[in-house]
Amino acid sequence: MPAGPFLRAVVATLLAFPLVALPLAAPAQSTTLLVDVDHRATTSLNGDWHAIIDQYSIGLRKNGFYMNTKFDPANTPQDYNFATASTLKVPGDWNMQRPELYYYEGLLWYQRDFEYHAQPNHRVFLHIGAANYRSYVWVNTKKICEHEGGFTPFDCDVTDALKDGSNFAVIAVDNTRLAAGVPTLQTDWWNYGGLTRDVSLVEVPKQYIDDYDLHLSRTDHSLIEGSVHVEGATQSRTIIVTIPELRARVETKTDEQGRAAISLPVKSLTLWSPETPKLYHVEITDAGTAPNCPPGQHCDTRQPLGDHLTDEIGFRTIETRGTQILLNGKPIFLRGISLHAEAPIRGGRAYSEKDVDTLLGWTKELGCNYVRLTHYPHDERMTRAADRLGLLVWSEVPDYWAIQFDNPVVLPKSKQQLTEMIRRDRNKASVILWSIANETTNTEVRTKYLTTLADLAHQIDPTRLVTAALLVRTEKNPAGGSFKIVDDPLGNALDVLGTNEYIGWYEQGLTGPDNTTWQIHFQKPVIMSEWGAETPAGRHAPPGVNPPPKWTEEYQAQLYQHQIVMLNKIPQLRGNSPWLLMDFRSPHRVNPGLQDNFNRKGLISDKGVKKQAFYVLQKAYQTNSLGKAE
Ligand code: GCU
Repeated sequence: MPAGPFLRAVVATLLAFPLVALPLAAPAQSTTLLVDVDHRATTSLNGDWHAIIDQYSIGLRKNGFYMNTKFDPANTPQDYNFATASTLKVPGDWNMQRPELYYYEGLLWYQRDFEYHAQPNHRVFLHIGAANYRSYVWVNTKKICEHEGGFTPFDCDVTDALKDGSNFAVIAVDNTRLAAGVPTLQTDWWNYGGLTRDVSLVEVPKQYIDDYDLHLSRTDHSLIEGSVHVEGATQSRTIIVTIPELRARVETKTDEQGRAAISLPVKSLTLWSPETPKLYHVEITDAGTAPNCPPGQHCDTRQPLGDHLTDEIGFRTIETRGTQILLNGKPIFLRGISLHAEAPIRGGRAYSEKDVDTLLGWTKELGCNYVRLTHYPHDERMTRAADRLGLLVWSEVPDYWAIQFDNPVVLPKSKQQLTEMIRRDRNKASVILWSIANETTNTEVRTKYLTTLADLAHQIDPTRLVTAALLVRTEKNPAGGSFKIVDDPLGNALDVLGTNEYIGWYEQGLTGPDNTTWQIHFQKPVIMSEWGAETPAGRHAPPGVNPPPKWTEEYQAQLYQHQIVMLNKIPQLRGNSPWLLMDFRSPHRVNPGLQDNFNRKGLISDKGVKKQAFYVLQKAYQTNSLGKAE
C-alpha cells in the first residue's frame, strides 16, 4: 500500500532525526526519593497496564507523543492505540511475560487509567520501586520526570498533573544497555526490562519527612542518634521521635535546612543481631510549628500536625577493629552466600514476598547469618525480611566490570544509585556493608573513581562499613602451587576487603585450593566474596570415576571441600559468600544441555533442586567449622 501523505510526513520527520535514541528535553523535574514508603498509606497501581513495544523509540522522538491515550479513529491516523493494546503485569519484567519479549532490549510503553481524589494541601508522588533501565513518566499527558538506574526506587511529584477523578499514567521504560551506563554493556545476568517492582501513589503533607536516620551510637549503647529531614519546611518545625516499648521520647526542632538532630537516650535496649533480630516500633512525627511561646504561658496553637511515619527498626553497631568485624562490639564471622534477585521456580526478576521467603528461607536452611545481595540493590522486601530473620546484608551498586571510569557522565550515575540505595535502606539493621563495585580492573582512573564513591558512602552513612569485591592477582609459588595476592590499591578506601576467586573452576582443578597461599597486604577484615563451580542439578560423575569430572555435582561438592580447607588457612578471613545460592539466567551462559541461558554455579537449581554442594556448605556452617571471628 503506497505511503499516504501523512505517513510520508511522519517518515520524513523521523528521518530528520539521527537514528539514535535522542536525549529527551531536560526532565520536567528530577526525581525525589521518599523513604519508608512500605509503611505509608499508598494507592497501588500494580496490575494490568496496556503495553506497546516501541522498538525504534518512535514515541520518544517527539518528547513522548505516545503519551496520548485516546485513539480517535475519526481524528488522527495514529499508529498506536493503548486502549486496544494487550497488557503486561506490573510489577514484573517483560522478558518472562511474553515469548517475543524474552530477548527484547528497547523501549516499551506502559499505560493505565486510574481514579484518584487528592486531599487538599497535600502532595502526591508516583512511587516506582524500580524500573530497568531508563524511565520517562507522564500523567494526563504532562511530562513529570525521568530516571536512570534499574534497581533503585524513585518518586515523581504528580500533584499538579492530577485531576480529581479520572487520570491516566504513561511510563516509557528502555532497557537498552549503555556503554556509559551503570552497569555497562557486559553483565553476567539477564537484562530483565520494565517496571520490575511495585508502582503506587503516595500522598504526603505539603511539608513531609523525606529522609531520616536513626541508629545506635557506636560509643554509647544507650543512645540512639541521627536526624530527621522535613522537605519543604518553611520554618522550624517540632519533630517528635518515640519508641513506645522503651518508653523513650525526644522532641526537637528542625534547623533552617529542615533537618532535626536526634539524640534519644534509651534504657534496656535489646540489641539487634542474627540471634536476636529484635525490631522496635518507632514513631516519627512532625508536630508542626509552635509559636514562640513566652515562658510560663501555655500556647498550644500549633498548626495541624505535619507528617507522621512509623517504622520497625533494629538497633545495633557494626565496625572493624584491626582484621576483625565487630557486631555490637563482639567479633563475628559472616557465614554467607551470594544471590541474584532471580525468582525461584517461575524465573525472572524477583519482587514478591514469595520470592523473598523462598530465597532467604534457603539461606537460613544453609545455616547462614549473612547474605551478599548481588550485584545491585534488591527489592526492599529482601532487606525488610533480612531485618526480621536476622541475616546480615552486603548491598551493592552495579559498578560491575568494565564501567567507563574515564567518562565524566558516569560518576554522577554511580553516585545517584549509591545515594538512592543508602537512602532506602539506611534504617535497616540487617544492612552492614555498602559495596561500591564488583571485579573492576585495577587502574588509576578506576581507583580514583571508586575511592570517590567509597568516600561518598562514608559521608552519607558513617555508621556502616564500605567494601567492594576485588579481583585478586595470582603469582607462581617457586615452592610449588600459587600465591593469591591481595594488594589492590582500592583496598585503602575500604573498611572490609571482598575478594573473588575461582580456584578449581576457571583456574586449576580440585587440588588448586590445596596448593594456594594467600598474601593479604592490608590489616583489614577479608570476606571471600565469590568462589564456586558449575553443574546442572542431577548431573553426576560416572560411578567409580574419581576425581569426578567438571560439570558434575560431585565435582562441585568436592571443590567446596577443598576450598573450605584453604579458607580456614587465611587468618584474617572474616566472612564467606560462595557463588551462589541459586542458578540464574545470563546471556553469557549458552552451553546447550549444561547451561541453556543459566549460570549453573548455584547450590540450588532455578527449579529448587538442591545439589550435593549445598550440604557440604551447610555442614561447615552448622558445625561452625568454616572461618573464625577472631
Ligand atoms: C564473576 C562475577 C559474577 C559471575 C561469576 C561467574 O566473578 O562477579 O557476576 O556470575 O564470576 O563467572 O559465574
